[in-house]
This record gives sequence, structure tokens and C-alpha cells, in this order.
Amino acid sequence: MSSDAEEEYLFKVVIIGDSAVGKSNLLSRYTLDEFDLHSKATIGVEFQTQTLDIDGKEVKAQIWDTAGQERFRAVTSAYYRGAFGALVVYDISRRSTFDSISRWLHELNTHSDTTVARMLVGNKCDLANIREVSVEEGKSLAEAEGLFFIETSALDSTNVKTAFEIVIKEIY
Ligand code: GTP
Ligand code: MG
Repeated sequence: MSSDAEEEYLFKVVIIGDSAVGKSNLLSRYTLDEFDLHSKATIGVEFQTQTLDIDGKEVKAQIWDTAGQERFRAVTSAYYRGAFGALVVYDISRRSTFDSISRWLHELNTHSDTTVARMLVGNKCDLANIREVSVEEGKSLAEAEGLFFIETSALDSTNVKTAFEIVIKEIY
């Protein structure tokens, strides 16, 4: 027997972007409230599940994290399959990672089988003193591509919860 209150929702969300932009730390900050200054590059695929309450319903997000480096990546199509949301991440202190965004969006669009709620994430906003990508540039790219936009810091926690939860709520 299941009542409305017990009904469960499970949504897959993927995190993509160049190596070292902070994908794994965004995930660990969100799900475990942990940050690692010396985290190793991800090899293959990892995921974490986070439960949240939306309008009194229990919603589970299964958040997938993979390697930014091509040689460490698992099968691309399997990674995107069934994803309803995506965080597309760059590092505000490294312009090359912002320049890669269009390539990541192309890959996401090519492999996703449904409409995906997409958030452009400018991570490492704690490094504003060595910023190479302005907030305005992030915003206008997001507008042009029809994405949400936010700047985050996995280090000091700025907007991390918000970034994930805007995407998850949009899916829901
Ligand atoms: P791959 O697994 O290789 O794709 O990299 P990744 O995107 O998962 O990056 P990861 O989370 O491993 O972080 C890379 C480096 O950036 C680590 O040294 C982190 O400590 C650091 N880092 C991550 N997020 C932040 C942040 O918000 N601010 C600062 N200052 N450093 C961060
Ligand atoms: Mg990683």
C-alpha cells in the first residue's frame, strides 16, 4: 500500500565540466558537507544520493560525477542516460574552462534523451581576486543557451545547496 505522502521520486542529475573545476567537491559539499583541498581527479563515475523535501514530498536526487579528463571517462552515453538535470561547471579563475562550456553543452544535448534542467555553474567564486571570467559573461552565456546561472564556492559553501536544489526543483 502506498499513500501520496509515501510516494517517492528519484531524479538523476549529472555534473559535467573540465577537469579540476570542482565537480567532485561541489558534490561532496552538497551531500556530505565535506571539502578536500587536495582531491584527486575522478576516474570513471561516482554518485551520491541526496534526499530533500519539496512541498512535503520526499524527493531523492541521484547525482552523478565523472572525470573531466577524457582518458578517465566511462561510457558517455550511459552517463547521460535518464538524466533529468545537469550542472555544467567552469572555474571562474580559469578562462579555458569557460571556453569549454559550449563543448560540454553539445555533448549533453547529443546524449540526453529527455528535456534536461540545466544550470551553468561558475565555481570557485571565493577566488574573485584572480577571476578570469566576469559574472556578466557567465550570465549572458546562460541566457543565450537557455540555462539557469549561479556562481558557487565548494570551498566556502556559497550557493552550493541552491545550485543543486534549483535544478532538482525544476525537474520536480
Ligand atoms: P576531475 O575529477 O578531474 O574532473 O576534477 P573535478 O572537477 O572533480 O575537481 P575537484 O572537485 O577534484 O577539485 C579540483 C581542485 O579544485 C581541488 O584542489 C579542490 O580543492 C579545488 N576546488 C574545488 N572547488 C573549489 C572552490 O570552490 N574554491 C577553491 N578555491 N578551490 C576549489
Ligand atoms: Mg572529480
